[in-house]
Amino acid sequence: MQDASALVNTHYLRHLVSLSAEEEVKATEDVFSASGVKLIGKGTRISEGMYERIVSHKLIRPLESSISIGDPVTPQALKLTAESLLDSSPSLARLIGQSSNLDSALGVVKSAQFGEQAGALLKLHEARLPASLNHGVLVGLVAMSLMKRMRPTDRGALDRLIVASFFHDIGELYIDPALHRNRSNPFNAEEWQQMAAHPAIGHAVLKNMSGIAPIIAELVLEHHERLDGGGYPHGRRKGEISEEGHILAVAETLSRFIGDSSEPFAYAEVALKIIPGEFSHSVIDAVAACREELRAARVLQEEIDAVEGLDPSSTDFQVGMSGLFTKIGQTCDVMAQLESQSKEASAGLKHLLSESQQYLQRVTRAISSTGLDQALNGVTLGEASEADLLQIRLEFDVTVSEVHWRLVELSRRLMQQQTKLAPEEVALLSPLVNVLAKRV
Ligand SMILES: [Fe+2]
Ligand SMILES: [Fe+2]
Repeated sequence: MQDASALVNTHYLRHLVSLSAEEEVKATEDVFSASGVKLIGKGTRISEGMYERIVSHKLIRPLESSISIGDPVTPQALKLTAESLLDSSPSLARLIGQSSNLDSALGVVKSAQFGEQAGALLKLHEARLPASLNHGVLVGLVAMSLMKRMRPTDRGALDRLIVASFFHDIGELYIDPALHRNRSNPFNAEEWQQMAAHPAIGHAVLKNMSGIAPIIAELVLEHHERLDGGGYPHGRRKGEISEEGHILAVAETLSRFIGDSSEPFAYAEVALKIIPGEFSHSVIDAVAACREELRAARVLQEEIDAVEGLDPSSTDFQVGMSGLFTKIGQTCDVMAQLESQSKEASAGLKHLLSESQQYLQRVTRAISSTGLDQALNGVTLGEASEADLLQIRLEFDVTVSEVHWRLVELSRRLMQQQTKLAPEEVALLSPLVNVLAKRV
């Protein structure tokens, strides 16, 4: 992976020169190569033709700090995005609060502190990967609703979290854009490595950027970490992750469940609790409080009712469940086979296998605790009332999809860690990696 402070990242540069065809992109100062050659003069407009000249050199300063874009993203523009998100999502508006609370929330967005260079980066992100701005603001508003319940008087932390939310995925600009387009296909090891690096790249870019507080870069680094060590890029654990970074990670996870009627907020708490230890109790409590408020305001029921195809009497969800159980069964078979083949294996491979085994046990325990395995036989569903049935259906749906994603995540972790193994052991491990990555 390139060091963003010295080498020009090819993906970033490609995005930048593409944008120059639509927007005025200029050098705000002379740009020198590490060997002292002036590559671009101050005030020069960047154009497509400059790609080759710039990409072949190391630069004295990161290119990001020498670039202006005609119309960078401003906090005022983000406030408008926040307004439209709140208009279109009753649950989000309810969680943020009403009237004066809503105004003060929008005030926090409008007073976000980041400089023009950072605003240019946001502009580039939105121009090349559309909807990224919406996503950043959504994560910020969800983080705000958690902070309101967890640390209501800590304005400083809220201000930091808001800015970190806007920039949390900025590292995506520095990885192959094809990875964003092909998300429905399982990633191979090299693709995962790139994808999993985006928080670290975002951190490297932001920590050198003027107008961005260094703490923001730290929070961005933590936005996919989990307290049980199952996250990325560093697999940090409880005690190594800041509470603000953890709240950002939770807000990022919850953002899927807000404003998307196919995955209502009712899913959120189940999703966070599915594997105990991933998320803190205090944050799960805050999400439970959010759910209760939405339930009391009847917003939650409206969301559940809006989920298309959620027919409580239908048994089609059992297909999803049996697909998941088949996958778990196949995974257990592959594990058993691997164990018998790896008696003479390296300590590294044995460690990976034992970690995978433990994780699989946690996943199967999680399924049992929801009663999903019994429901497959129709036991629970046969006894439930219509309203309960709907709730049970929701929980089963989310359990199936969340468990599936945890298994895909395990395959990612194995792919990342197998780089330390000898090639023959990587080959030995590959059936496990493949079965975990398979779609249900
Ligand atoms: Fe994100
Ligand atoms: Fe991310």
